[in-house]
Amino acid sequence: MDTTKDNQEVKTNNKERDYSQYFQSTYAPPSLKDAKKRGKEQVQILKDFSIPENLKNIGVGKKFYIRTYGCQMNEHDTEVMAGILNEMGYETTYSTEDADVILLNTCAIRENAENKVFGELGHLKHTKANNPNLLLGVCGCMSQEESVVNRILSTYPQVDMIFGTHNIHRLPQIIENALFSKEMVVEVWSKEGDIVENLPRKRKGNVKGWVNIMYGCDKFCTYCIVPYTRGKERSRYPQDIIEEVRQLAREGYKEVTLLGQNVNAYGKDFEDLEYGLGDLMDEIRKIDIPRLRFTTSHPRDFDDRLIEVLAKGGNIVDHVHLPVQHGNSDVLKLMARKYTREHYLELVNKIKAAMPNVALTTDIIVGFPNETEEQFQETLSLVKEVQYDAAYTFIYSPREGTPAAKMQDNVPMEVKRERLQRLNAMLNDISLEKNKAYVGKVVEVLVEGESKKNPDVLTGHTGSNKVVNFKAPKHLIGEIVKVQITDAKTWNLGGEWVEEKSEVVG
Ligand code: 5AD
Ligand code: SF4
Repeated sequence: MDTTKDNQEVKTNNKERDYSQYFQSTYAPPSLKDAKKRGKEQVQILKDFSIPENLKNIGVGKKFYIRTYGCQMNEHDTEVMAGILNEMGYETTYSTEDADVILLNTCAIRENAENKVFGELGHLKHTKANNPNLLLGVCGCMSQEESVVNRILSTYPQVDMIFGTHNIHRLPQIIENALFSKEMVVEVWSKEGDIVENLPRKRKGNVKGWVNIMYGCDKFCTYCIVPYTRGKERSRYPQDIIEEVRQLAREGYKEVTLLGQNVNAYGKDFEDLEYGLGDLMDEIRKIDIPRLRFTTSHPRDFDDRLIEVLAKGGNIVDHVHLPVQHGNSDVLKLMARKYTREHYLELVNKIKAAMPNVALTTDIIVGFPNETEEQFQETLSLVKEVQYDAAYTFIYSPREGTPAAKMQDNVPMEVKRERLQRLNAMLNDISLEKNKAYVGKVVEVLVEGESKKNPDVLTGHTGSNKVVNFKAPKHLIGEIVKVQITDAKTWNLGGEWVEEKSEVVG
């Protein structure tokens, strides 16, 4: 592996120093400006990951704890880091008190996500004081931000190591550096590196598996920090993905979710291959895995080939997450989403025609700079027209370094909050109505475990991603079972387990 890349910063920083002086002399923080560049150089696919001999047993008798914030990509990165730590001899713990290594795998998407991490770092100061041998690390998207790294360096001396999203495979060496130096280890690559194929993974559970199909995002929506923290789009080769899914099928996994920040751009970076998400799904659906999902979609690249494959049904679930972000075409333009309201609605209609039982979910931002009441009304009318099953809704949060953060904004926060409430009220009404339509029907549920609220109740998801709670024997956990729906709420369904064969809809 090339460890001499010019985009790599390996620096150690003495906690007792005057950092401002230090920055000017030797410390080169990650740079969002560099992260924005999209070079033409071909990404290498490497299969040479291995834990150095001297680090293989370094964690024997020790434990690690990883707290994950944010999206499924982070959840999956955590599985990779857990896999690496296991191979170094470390075992998992679910308590920060008896951990020898604590990693915060962070999210930068909105300010409140970042505030949670800074709050947690504050709490962990005491944990570190009680256990000075503890190694505390910050990784994930926040580590890619210059301002965050500087803030940690100046204010959180309890942190021992900071590394980013592009060099997770360097975790053994980073831990080694942190163990043997009294200084804070900062290793963040501003630009993405190569794809490392043979990283170990310690998956959470043995029922649902995440499979990365691509990394990064080139869309540069004007509000979004992800293209800077995750780098340029890089697709994994189809054969590597297919082999990973086959392996999960052999291990008895019931569901696979293909992951990427913008999965519809899958394959666009292949120079020698015409191959997209539709082609990939068409091959993977033939693998004996009961459920196949993908996330997250971008409407712009959602093509007819994919729709044609989705229409084939089978193990492809009846659920499409299709972030719209806004219902007004002028706002969509300012967001650089590269589609109009009309184009989005046309796409929705095509998907509904191809998948008659599809559950559609979305992401929506309210309070984008200067959003007018009329423009917001268009978001409401779009929601009404599409009839989403569910949505994640957010108040716009300016992200330093993004184009939207430089826009003047005349919308007061109270107005944004009030719009969010109105939007959520409408979405909740629609969700409840949609859920009520399930009452009396028999659905297939992948049983994931006991309900958090009541251990006598089991919980799982339908293919259409509805949460279903029902009573049934515990040995069914991990199985797909039939449940007759008896009760509908806004967020979930209740039902009775049925053993006999019935017509199945979900
Ligand atoms: N402010 C608010 N929401 C954001 N998202 C992304 N960036 C921002 C931001 N700056 C939302 C989008 C995206 C989801 C993952 O997070 O809706 O689809
Ligand atoms: Fe962010 Fe847009 Fe890329 Fe999604 S498509 S990760 S919202 S830049």
